[in-house]
Amino acid sequence: MTSVNKHILVVGSGSAGKRHARNLASRGCTISSMDPRQDRLAELAEETPVERGFDSIEAALENSERLDGVVITSPPFFHVDQAIAAIEARLPVLLEKPVSPDATSARKLARTCESHEVALLLGYTWRWWPPLRDVKTKLESGAVGRLRHVRFTMSAHLADWHPWERYQDFFMSSRELGGGAILDESHWIDLALWFFGMPRSVSARIEKISDLEIDADDNVDMILEFDDGLRATLHLDLFGRPHEKSIRFVGEEGSCLWTESPNRVAFSGSASEDWDETTYTCERNDMFMGVTEEFLDVLDGQSVTTCSIEDGVRVLDVIEAARRSHEEERRIPL
Ligand SMILES: NC(=O)c1ccc[n+]([C@@H]2O[C@H](COP(=O)([O-])OP(=O)(O)OC[C@H]3O[C@@H](n4cnc5c(N)ncnc54)[C@H](O)[C@@H]3O)[C@@H](O)[C@H]2O)c1
Repeated sequence: MTSVNKHILVVGSGSAGKRHARNLASRGCTISSMDPRQDRLAELAEETPVERGFDSIEAALENSERLDGVVITSPPFFHVDQAIAAIEARLPVLLEKPVSPDATSARKLARTCESHEVALLLGYTWRWWPPLRDVKTKLESGAVGRLRHVRFTMSAHLADWHPWERYQDFFMSSRELGGGAILDESHWIDLALWFFGMPRSVSARIEKISDLEIDADDNVDMILEFDDGLRATLHLDLFGRPHEKSIRFVGEEGSCLWTESPNRVAFSGSASEDWDETTYTCERNDMFMGVTEEFLDVLDGQSVTTCSIEDGVRVLDVIEAARRSHEEERRIPL
């Protein structure tokens, strides 16, 4: 693998920012970073050599001609304004998910990318996860017959996510900053759209039901109906232990089960739990390295292939329909 000499600004030096900085530096990139918190800038610099650290996006983009690209890993509330600033400076962007807390601002960003002809790669990273890519290929070749029902489950107690800080101080606790289950775990909505396209209707409950000290939602139950009669249910929560990330695809000739832990894909056409299982050795960082490689290609002028700003807008359209469904207690057509 050849080393790449690009200078990348990482905006938001928390957990995801440090990971992207590490990965890009491992491929030869020079890193500068931005975060309003000095401790976060110092932590990132401790593990990855940093050319310059900034405490505002304006200062960081002042000499934008020294940069080749921008990675945005701040809380979602800031994503659109920061991405627009980078795009206006003609710098390609890798934006972490979700695009924004709302669809209107996400569309504004999409228009800015289009009018400036600058590329944006979106970080719904599970699209790069090898077992899920295998599942998609196998389902498309009819491995379980015609699909009728799919069940997505994501359940993980928020206090376990960032053991180095109080969860109450993490942006995930804050509705205003774009935390909460539906926005942050929109990975699973994105995967539903990646597998099956846009649903024709959405029914949802989006609630705060646990004792977690947060003002964002911690429980989502959703039904997505697709054109060919396929239904998907999604359960997303921030209070479950042990953690679960799984998808069960039920077709007329059998089922496919994907789980994150154990790291496997299984197929069965029998009545009992008699699964034909494939286990994988890939590690969590591999999907982020997949994103890194695609972003480096984008910096070299190639098109975004795996996850675009339009994909992110579609996810937010589903989220907004889900919010309406909850408020109006009815199914919302799309
Ligand atoms: N793709 C994935 O699987 C994945 C995984 C983790 C996080 N993420 C996404 O990455 C983003 C950050 O999540 P995280 O877990 O790293 O959170 P984090 O809290 O660890 O990091 C966010 C950082 O942003 C900083 N920040 C606050 N305001 C800022 C501003 N105005 N400008 C720049 N930085 C600012 C905070 O000080 C913090 O250091 C979120 O959008 C999250 O959904 C994606």
